[in-house]
Amino acid sequence: MPDVRIFADSHSLAVAAAEHWVAAARTAVQARGLFSVALAGGSTPLMLYRLLSSPEYAQQVEWERVHFFWGDERCVPNDHDDNNAFKARQALLDHIPTPVENIHPIPTEHKPEAAAAAYEETLLAFFSTMLVRPEPEPPTFDLVLLGMGEDGHTASLFPGSQAVQETARWVAAQYIDKLAAWRITLTPAVLNRAREVLFLVSGAGKSAALQRVLYGSYQPDRYPAQVIRPTRSEPAWFVDEAAASLF
Ligand code: 6PG
Repeated sequence: MPDVRIFADSHSLAVAAAEHWVAAARTAVQARGLFSVALAGGSTPLMLYRLLSSPEYAQQVEWERVHFFWGDERCVPNDHDDNNAFKARQALLDHIPTPVENIHPIPTEHKPEAAAAAYEETLLAFFSTMLVRPEPEPPTFDLVLLGMGEDGHTASLFPGSQAVQETARWVAAQYIDKLAAWRITLTPAVLNRAREVLFLVSGAGKSAALQRVLYGSYQPDRYPAQVIRPTRSEPAWFVDEAAASLF
């Protein structure tokens, strides 16, 4: 059965996620001296990011040991309001003492395919130096945060997109017809190697997709969030009652 925790509302979900995030950071730093986290985009995690920047949580984290990455990015300038890294800076990164060299945004100043290739190099450079022996396999994040769209997409793995089935490349550029926009996304090859994956899903609009993703038949091309099956542990789902209203 999926590991689902249901919270009364989006705020209590964010509080639980902040406690979980801080604990994951502490565990990783104790074990390996650093915490590598891939942030989710969209609006749901912003309350979590703001909580983490508040004194109650910020004082619990060794920010100089945290390395920030992103699970996906919109192909817009890095100061655009739709840019996931830009939103995370506003909510969290501009308010904590993480060194700039620990922040690894997806370089949307490049064209999509070049941005994906450049980000693969960023991942290779970071994870090969951080490992006792460079692993030929994809990198292993300590924590990957993910959201889910009303269509069951996650990161920028959208229904019908090739990246959903990508097992070799670590980062993919995808033109998403229904958005009429390019996206850059980590692929299941990387997402499924994470030590821990935490989904944050809030709102009644997600209820139908959430019920299908969690309890429906396995159809990842139709419901891409289903392709997230980390080899190390079941994904955790923090959802609010509105999103869980159909189960
Ligand atoms: C993005 C995200 C995407 C997001 C879902 C949910 O770049 O938009 O990575 O996968 O998590 O679309 O978005 P909301 O949290 O805004 O509902």
